[in-house]
Amino acid sequence: MGNFMRRRKARKEEEVSVRNAAGSDLREIVRLWQTNIKTANTAPDIADFFYSFKIYFFVAVCSGSACSGSADTTNKIVGFVGGTVRNGSGHDAHISGIAVEKEHRRRGIGTRLLTTVEREFRADGFGKVTLEVRKSNRAAINFYEKQGYKRSYFVTGYYADGEDAIVCEKRL
Ligand SMILES: CC(C)(COP(=O)(O)OP(=O)(O)OC[C@H]1O[C@@H](n2cnc3c(N)ncnc32)[C@H](O)[C@@H]1OP(=O)(O)O)[C@@H](O)C(=O)NCCC(=O)NCCS
Repeated sequence: MGNFMRRRKARKEEEVSVRNAAGSDLREIVRLWQTNIKTANTAPDIADFFYSFKIYFFVAVCSGSACSGSADTTNKIVGFVGGTVRNGSGHDAHISGIAVEKEHRRRGIGTRLLTTVEREFRADGFGKVTLEVRKSNRAAINFYEKQGYKRSYFVTGYYADGEDAIVCEKRL
Protein backbone atom coordinates (compact mmCIF):
# COMPACT_ATOMS: atom_id res chain seq x y z
CA MET A 1 0.00 0.00 0.00
CA GLY A 2 1.37 3.46 -0.90
CA ASN A 3 1.83 6.26 1.61
CA PHE A 4 -1.21 8.09 0.31
CA MET A 5 -3.48 5.08 0.82
CA ARG A 6 -2.03 4.48 4.27
CA ARG A 7 -2.69 8.11 5.30
CA ARG A 8 -6.18 7.98 3.81
CA LYS A 9 -7.00 4.80 5.71
CA ALA A 10 -5.66 6.23 8.97
CA ARG A 11 -7.56 9.51 8.60
CA LYS A 12 -10.87 7.73 7.93
CA GLU A 13 -10.32 5.50 10.93
CA GLU A 14 -9.91 8.55 13.20
CA GLU A 15 -13.42 9.68 12.37
CA VAL A 16 -14.96 6.56 13.79
CA SER A 17 -15.27 6.22 17.54
CA VAL A 18 -16.17 3.14 19.53
CA ARG A 19 -18.35 3.52 22.61
CA ASN A 20 -20.57 1.48 24.91
CA ALA A 21 -23.97 0.87 23.40
CA ALA A 22 -26.99 2.69 24.84
CA GLY A 23 -30.62 1.55 24.87
CA SER A 24 -31.34 3.97 22.05
CA ASP A 25 -28.82 2.08 19.83
CA LEU A 26 -30.71 -1.21 20.01
CA ARG A 27 -32.79 -0.65 16.88
CA GLU A 28 -29.62 0.00 14.81
CA ILE A 29 -27.86 -2.99 16.37
CA VAL A 30 -30.79 -5.24 15.40
CA ARG A 31 -30.71 -3.83 11.86
CA LEU A 32 -26.94 -4.34 11.51
CA TRP A 33 -27.14 -7.82 13.03
CA GLN A 34 -29.96 -8.96 10.75
CA THR A 35 -28.69 -7.38 7.52
CA ASN A 36 -25.01 -8.36 7.86
CA ILE A 37 -25.04 -11.69 9.67
CA LYS A 38 -26.71 -14.79 8.24
CA THR A 39 -28.74 -15.51 11.34
CA ALA A 40 -31.94 -16.97 12.68
CA ASN A 41 -31.82 -14.55 15.65
CA THR A 42 -35.04 -12.55 15.91
CA ALA A 43 -35.23 -8.97 17.18
CA PRO A 44 -36.47 -10.23 20.61
CA ASP A 45 -33.50 -12.69 20.79
CA ILE A 46 -31.08 -9.82 20.10
CA ALA A 47 -32.85 -7.54 22.58
CA ASP A 48 -32.57 -10.28 25.16
CA PHE A 49 -28.77 -10.59 24.64
CA PHE A 50 -28.51 -6.82 24.71
CA TYR A 51 -30.36 -6.22 27.97
CA SER A 52 -28.68 -9.19 29.68
CA PHE A 53 -25.13 -8.20 28.66
CA LYS A 54 -25.28 -4.50 27.85
CA ILE A 55 -21.80 -3.80 29.27
CA TYR A 56 -20.35 -6.03 26.54
CA PHE A 57 -22.13 -4.29 23.65
CA PHE A 58 -20.21 -1.60 21.78
CA VAL A 59 -21.00 0.44 18.69
CA ALA A 60 -18.78 2.15 16.14
CA VAL A 61 -20.07 5.63 15.39
CA CYS A 62 -19.03 7.40 12.24
CA SER A 63 -19.10 11.15 11.76
CA GLY A 64 -18.00 13.55 9.05
CA SER A 65 -16.38 12.56 5.78
CA ALA A 66 -15.77 8.97 6.84
CA CYS A 67 -19.54 8.52 6.47
CA SER A 68 -19.59 9.63 2.86
CA GLY A 69 -21.75 7.40 0.76
CA SER A 70 -24.48 7.18 3.36
CA ALA A 71 -27.57 9.36 3.38
CA ASP A 72 -27.24 10.44 7.01
CA THR A 73 -23.64 11.51 7.54
CA THR A 74 -23.77 12.51 11.19
CA ASN A 75 -23.21 10.04 13.99
CA LYS A 76 -24.22 7.01 12.04
CA ILE A 77 -23.74 3.63 13.70
CA VAL A 78 -21.66 1.60 11.25
CA GLY A 79 -20.75 -1.39 13.35
CA PHE A 80 -21.37 -3.21 16.59
CA VAL A 81 -20.06 -6.04 18.67
CA GLY A 82 -22.14 -7.98 21.18
CA GLY A 83 -20.41 -9.96 23.88
CA THR A 84 -22.25 -12.37 26.16
CA VAL A 85 -21.38 -14.74 28.99
CA ARG A 86 -22.32 -18.38 28.70
CA ASN A 87 -22.77 -20.84 31.50
CA GLY A 88 -20.89 -23.98 30.54
CA SER A 89 -18.31 -25.76 32.64
CA GLY A 90 -17.63 -22.29 34.05
CA HIS A 91 -18.58 -18.82 32.83
CA ASP A 92 -17.28 -18.28 29.31
CA ALA A 93 -16.86 -14.95 27.58
CA HIS A 94 -18.38 -15.20 24.13
CA ILE A 95 -18.76 -13.08 21.00
CA SER A 96 -22.41 -13.41 19.96
CA GLY A 97 -22.39 -10.95 17.10
CA ILE A 98 -20.11 -8.56 15.27
CA ALA A 99 -20.73 -6.69 12.04
CA VAL A 100 -19.53 -3.65 10.17
CA GLU A 101 -21.61 -1.99 7.45
CA LYS A 102 -20.34 -3.16 4.03
CA GLU A 103 -19.06 0.20 2.80
CA HIS A 104 -17.07 0.73 6.03
CA ARG A 105 -15.22 -2.59 6.06
CA ARG A 106 -11.44 -3.10 5.80
CA ARG A 107 -10.72 0.12 7.71
CA GLY A 108 -9.93 -1.47 11.05
CA ILE A 109 -13.38 -0.88 12.59
CA GLY A 110 -14.06 -4.58 13.21
CA THR A 111 -10.66 -4.89 14.89
CA ARG A 112 -11.36 -1.92 17.15
CA LEU A 113 -14.75 -3.32 18.17
CA LEU A 114 -13.32 -6.75 18.91
CA THR A 115 -10.34 -5.48 20.89
CA THR A 116 -12.66 -3.19 22.90
CA VAL A 117 -14.94 -6.01 24.04
CA GLU A 118 -11.93 -8.28 24.68
CA ARG A 119 -10.42 -5.58 26.92
CA GLU A 120 -13.69 -5.41 28.87
CA PHE A 121 -13.78 -9.22 29.27
CA ARG A 122 -10.14 -9.23 30.41
CA ALA A 123 -10.85 -6.48 32.95
CA ASP A 124 -13.70 -8.61 34.31
CA GLY A 125 -11.36 -11.55 34.85
CA PHE A 126 -12.18 -13.79 31.88
CA GLY A 127 -9.21 -15.83 30.67
CA LYS A 128 -10.54 -16.75 27.25
CA VAL A 129 -13.19 -15.80 24.74
CA THR A 130 -15.02 -18.14 22.36
CA LEU A 131 -17.15 -17.69 19.25
CA GLU A 132 -18.77 -19.66 16.45
CA VAL A 133 -18.36 -18.87 12.79
CA ARG A 134 -19.91 -20.45 9.69
CA LYS A 135 -17.56 -22.80 7.87
CA SER A 136 -18.21 -20.84 4.65
CA ASN A 137 -17.56 -17.36 6.13
CA ARG A 138 -14.00 -16.90 4.82
CA ALA A 139 -13.93 -13.15 5.56
CA ALA A 140 -14.83 -13.62 9.22
CA ILE A 141 -12.50 -16.63 9.62
CA ASN A 142 -9.58 -14.58 8.26
CA PHE A 143 -10.58 -11.66 10.44
CA TYR A 144 -10.71 -13.76 13.62
CA GLU A 145 -7.47 -15.58 12.82
CA LYS A 146 -5.75 -12.25 12.33
CA GLN A 147 -6.94 -11.27 15.83
CA GLY A 148 -5.37 -14.40 17.30
CA TYR A 149 -8.36 -16.76 17.43
CA LYS A 150 -7.55 -20.46 16.98
CA ARG A 151 -9.91 -23.05 15.53
CA SER A 152 -10.98 -25.34 18.32
CA TYR A 153 -13.59 -27.79 16.92
CA PHE A 154 -16.52 -28.14 14.49
CA VAL A 155 -20.19 -28.41 15.38
CA THR A 156 -22.03 -30.25 12.62
CA GLY A 157 -25.32 -28.64 11.58
CA TYR A 158 -25.02 -25.89 14.21
CA TYR A 159 -26.91 -23.24 12.21
CA ALA A 160 -30.67 -23.35 11.49
CA ASP A 161 -30.00 -23.93 7.77
CA GLY A 162 -27.79 -26.94 8.54
CA GLU A 163 -24.37 -25.33 8.03
CA ASP A 164 -21.52 -26.41 10.30
CA ALA A 165 -19.89 -24.01 12.75
CA ILE A 166 -16.23 -23.67 13.58
CA VAL A 167 -15.77 -22.91 17.26
CA CYS A 168 -12.79 -20.62 17.81
CA GLU A 169 -11.16 -19.38 20.97
CA LYS A 170 -8.57 -16.91 22.11
CA ARG A 171 -6.69 -16.62 25.39
CA LEU A 172 -7.07 -13.16 26.83
C1 LIG B 1 -15.95 -9.72 9.88
C2 LIG B 1 -16.12 -8.19 9.86
C3 LIG B 1 -16.81 -7.76 11.15
C4 LIG B 1 -14.72 -7.54 9.79
O1 LIG B 1 -14.88 -6.13 9.91
P1 LIG B 1 -13.83 -5.09 9.26
O2 LIG B 1 -14.07 -3.76 9.87
O3 LIG B 1 -13.89 -5.17 7.80
O4 LIG B 1 -12.44 -5.71 9.78
P2 LIG B 1 -11.00 -5.00 9.79
O5 LIG B 1 -10.94 -3.89 8.81
O6 LIG B 1 -10.66 -4.69 11.19
O7 LIG B 1 -10.10 -6.23 9.27
C5 LIG B 1 -8.93 -6.66 9.93
C6 LIG B 1 -8.30 -7.78 9.15
O8 LIG B 1 -9.17 -8.93 9.06
C7 LIG B 1 -8.99 -9.58 7.79
N1 LIG B 1 -10.20 -9.44 6.96
C8 LIG B 1 -11.26 -8.65 7.20
N2 LIG B 1 -12.18 -8.79 6.20
C9 LIG B 1 -11.66 -9.68 5.34
C10 LIG B 1 -12.11 -10.21 4.10
N3 LIG B 1 -13.29 -9.84 3.55
N4 LIG B 1 -11.34 -11.09 3.45
C11 LIG B 1 -10.14 -11.47 3.96
N5 LIG B 1 -9.64 -10.99 5.14
C12 LIG B 1 -10.39 -10.11 5.81
C13 LIG B 1 -7.85 -8.83 7.10
O9 LIG B 1 -6.64 -9.47 7.49
C14 LIG B 1 -7.98 -7.44 7.70
O10 LIG B 1 -6.77 -6.69 7.65
P3 LIG B 1 -6.42 -5.84 6.30
O11 LIG B 1 -7.64 -5.05 5.93
O12 LIG B 1 -5.28 -4.98 6.75
O13 LIG B 1 -6.06 -6.87 5.26
C15 LIG B 1 -16.92 -7.74 8.61
O14 LIG B 1 -16.36 -8.35 7.46
C16 LIG B 1 -18.40 -8.06 8.64
O15 LIG B 1 -19.21 -7.30 9.18
N6 LIG B 1 -18.80 -9.21 8.06
C17 LIG B 1 -20.22 -9.57 8.01
C18 LIG B 1 -20.75 -10.02 9.35
C19 LIG B 1 -20.04 -11.28 9.84
O16 LIG B 1 -19.76 -12.20 9.06
N7 LIG B 1 -19.78 -11.30 11.16
C20 LIG B 1 -19.16 -12.43 11.80
C21 LIG B 1 -20.21 -13.43 12.11
S1 LIG B 1 -19.52 -14.75 13.10
